[in-house]
Amino acid sequence: IVSKALITVSTGARIGAIDPRVYGSFVEHLGRCVYDGIYEPQHPTADEQGFREDVLALVRELGVTTVRYPGGNFVSGYRWEDGVGPREQRPVRRDLAWHSTETNEVGLHEFAHWNRKAGSEPMLALNLGTRGELEALDLVEYTNLPAGSALSDQRVANGAQEGFGVRMWCLGNEMDGPWQLGHRDAVDYGKLASRTAKALRQLQPDLELVVCGSSGAAMPTFGTWERQVLEQSYDDVDFISAHAYYEPHDGDVDSFLASAVDMDRFIDVVAATADHVKAEKRSDKTIFISFDEWNVWYLSRYEDVDKITGDDDWPKAPRLLEDVYTVTDAVVVGSLLISLLKHADRVKSASLAQLVNVIAPIMTEPGGSAWRQTTFHPFAITARLGRGEALRAEIAGPTIPTKRFGDVSAVDAVVTRDAEAGTAAVFLVNRSRTEPITVSVALHGLGGVSITETATLADDDLEAVNTAAEPDRVTPSPNDSATVSDGSLTITLPPVSWTAVGLTAE
Ligand code: AHR
Repeated sequence: IVSKALITVSTGARIGAIDPRVYGSFVEHLGRCVYDGIYEPQHPTADEQGFREDVLALVRELGVTTVRYPGGNFVSGYRWEDGVGPREQRPVRRDLAWHSTETNEVGLHEFAHWNRKAGSEPMLALNLGTRGELEALDLVEYTNLPAGSALSDQRVANGAQEGFGVRMWCLGNEMDGPWQLGHRDAVDYGKLASRTAKALRQLQPDLELVVCGSSGAAMPTFGTWERQVLEQSYDDVDFISAHAYYEPHDGDVDSFLASAVDMDRFIDVVAATADHVKAEKRSDKTIFISFDEWNVWYLSRYEDVDKITGDDDWPKAPRLLEDVYTVTDAVVVGSLLISLLKHADRVKSASLAQLVNVIAPIMTEPGGSAWRQTTFHPFAITARLGRGEALRAEIAGPTIPTKRFGDVSAVDAVVTRDAEAGTAAVFLVNRSRTEPITVSVALHGLGGVSITETATLADDDLEAVNTAAEPDRVTPSPNDSATVSDGSLTITLPPVSWTAVGLTAE
């Protein structure tokens, strides 16, 4: 038996313009993300600065627009000065966040070089954990100001005549988390963020500043944290961050497949809280959301995330958080992307955490190959097709009972349209573990369309993964069931599957 669902997209369904920065990612000095990840000077494909060209090619294929750096928890103990100047003179430090040795071979200049080659824009995080306004001012002066001040001249002396032009800055990382160096309460942090933002804007008024929101909707302070932080900093910032990681708990795969329900609610609560503060302050400004850490992460496999590498050892580039992603994980990642697009009016920046080796779509072996995890595919296809504006899809169809979220729609979907390019796309997920679902998508609002491509990620083995030995075990396939007639797209979605349909105006 094939279930049926009906999706309607009307002309009045516009959610908002898609900011390309929702297709961002994240590179942290953690495990093998930087060292033995993007950077491996001994690798046969390494460029003159030590970056792997094979990894760069995959990053470009992934379509990543922005890359957040250098942390994460790492940033709260980081001195940016350690990572500039002659490489052989850079200090070796102990990174307290990940109990690792940091050689500082890669720093700001190298990361800017790598971004130029990757075709992405850097988004930098400031250390507001163990440092304050002055060091933040110093880093912005060094990074962005034209020659003629002490620190911009130091940058020039270090080989970069022009500033790096970084526009987006995170005012710390996960300051609500007790694990964070320099963790403090919301009012204290809100005051620090406000002071820092005011100071930075004197130096460069057009910066885009992200204040820290919650590290997850399950945090005990969730909601209160956002309100108290924004009460202190509303006028000074442009974005509030959100972080969320998902995994199956106690084998509850149905709730895991419905993780996007949590992400939807998370975004709605943060937006409503920001709007509440906006009303309190009688402000005209809207605060946007930077969902700058999101992914599937099998976090509960680690007994104590604070002491991941053990007490006695301070390894360099240890193998940390190297989750190997299954078909089910890729379907969840695809559905989280649908959730982000469904909130295109509020989520104007997002970062898949992370990019290489560490809970990442791209994996590498030292001296060996680089390959795409299962999760690479929905991200790359959505980043390529999901452009322009997002349109709301009204869905009528079967539901699935879940422990965490009650009954949820088996199908979730969003439509995007790029009026300039004359293209559109439909992204769909089937969360049912048993039922294929035939979906009719009434696209009358889009005018006449025809199909340019289809891709469905599904597999009889939901645990199938890609590895160095079998890098293309899981890839999307064309979905031959798709047809368009009389302005309606009809397509059958296999159980536990993610699908994209590219369309063009006739
Ligand atoms: O992405 C891994 C870690 O998750 C980051 O360092 C931190 O910000 C979050 O808790």
